[in-house]
Amino acid sequence: MSKNESQSSLFRKKPIAVSGEERSALKRVLGPLDLMTLGVGAIIGTGIFVLTGVAAAKYAGPGLVLSFLLAGLICAFAALCYSEFASSVPASGSAYTYSYTAFGEVIAWILGWDLILEYGFASAAVASGWSGYFQSLLSGFGLHLPHELTSAFSPEKGTYFDITAAVITLIITFLLTRGVKEAARANGIMVALKIIVVLIFIGVGVFYVQPEHWQPFLPFGISGVTAGAATVFFAYIGFDAVSTAAEEVKMPQRNLPIGIIGSLAICTVLYIVVSLILTGIVPYHMLNVSDPVAYAFEFVNLHGLSWIVALGAITGITTVLLVMMYGQTRLLYSMSRDGLLSPVFSKVSGKSQTPALGSWVAGIVVALFSGFISLGHLAELTNIGTLFAFAVVSLGIIVLRKNNPDLKRGFRVPFVPWIPILSAIGCVYLMTRLAMLTWITFFIWLLIGLGIYFLYGRHHSHLNSKSFEK
Ligand code: ALA
Repeated sequence: MSKNESQSSLFRKKPIAVSGEERSALKRVLGPLDLMTLGVGAIIGTGIFVLTGVAAAKYAGPGLVLSFLLAGLICAFAALCYSEFASSVPASGSAYTYSYTAFGEVIAWILGWDLILEYGFASAAVASGWSGYFQSLLSGFGLHLPHELTSAFSPEKGTYFDITAAVITLIITFLLTRGVKEAARANGIMVALKIIVVLIFIGVGVFYVQPEHWQPFLPFGISGVTAGAATVFFAYIGFDAVSTAAEEVKMPQRNLPIGIIGSLAICTVLYIVVSLILTGIVPYHMLNVSDPVAYAFEFVNLHGLSWIVALGAITGITTVLLVMMYGQTRLLYSMSRDGLLSPVFSKVSGKSQTPALGSWVAGIVVALFSGFISLGHLAELTNIGTLFAFAVVSLGIIVLRKNNPDLKRGFRVPFVPWIPILSAIGCVYLMTRLAMLTWITFFIWLLIGLGIYFLYGRHHSHLNSKSFEK
């Protein structure tokens, strides 16, 4: 291939050294504990506090614990792959950046565009879960919003816009533009509260378990367990957001794998125990409520504790929103810095040294999504986008090993290629368990993305510039 051909190839790659070092204006302030906090902060939220109930009642029954085990196992394989990439290509932007070095520009763009879907819809979904818990707390005090503004657009139900979800999204955006260290500090306190509440649920709830509620264990059979896994997969999303912080991490090659694998391990253990206790306290068919974890304590007349759990859930869900929106802005930052998106998203400004203008653009779009689209739809779209990203990243490990065998890696996935292959198969399998409408929306999103790439990104990519010619 001639130089000119390779420069204009759809699969032109970004050199790895360039991915890690270039022009970073972000400050390296985060250590391993900050990262684990960021991880747990991103993981435990709407998934366990809200979607668990639907998954138990509609799909898995008491077999919900098996759904969590299956989804957790697939995430563990993917987390190993993320860790190797993060420890060898420690640059902002996560899977997007990795695939720029492994697969080339057009695949990187598709993945980046897909991740915008993941983080954007995940933030909106989480804000919508937040709104549900917040409104139920308000109603405990006899306060109610106008009905039209209580939920997503659904004229037949008389609701048009979820104002609470949109407002919390904008508040979090404001916090993020104040600076990473400040946001991480607020996050730390809220993560601690969230873990305490989950431990209270486990410590008290265990005494109210009635083993007969676990019978029949698989009311919807194994297919119910796998459909449940495709739903509760949402609960695990977030460990990948740790890697979006790469350029703000001290000693990233050591600390990123600790942050990614550590936070996933903590959450998996908590989820397995919580799902067993939840289905042991409340018969599974009664769990289809908007606040199942708080409801379980209501169910056994522990009203005070139920209120504390609801408050903890709101706090916990807030941290997820914080990290998801942080991931979103840093992803946009990386893609913009590479020239594939408008420079607005990589303009770092003010004393806080954050991409403030880009954060506001993203924040307003997410606020509109969270106001108009329902939680169920948002969660499914998040899952399909994330599963796709996990599958591509996993296969990327095999490519990176082949093309860059001598690259310095802080962490290596064991049993390559088997673990990456198992991870990709698991992710694609869970994707097949999602609804047709979700698939159609996903494809439309990808097509729009390709349109933007060919009309804008391809011509503005910094790989067009002389400095990358070798
Ligand atoms: N895992 C995150 C949650 O459960 C997205 O809310």
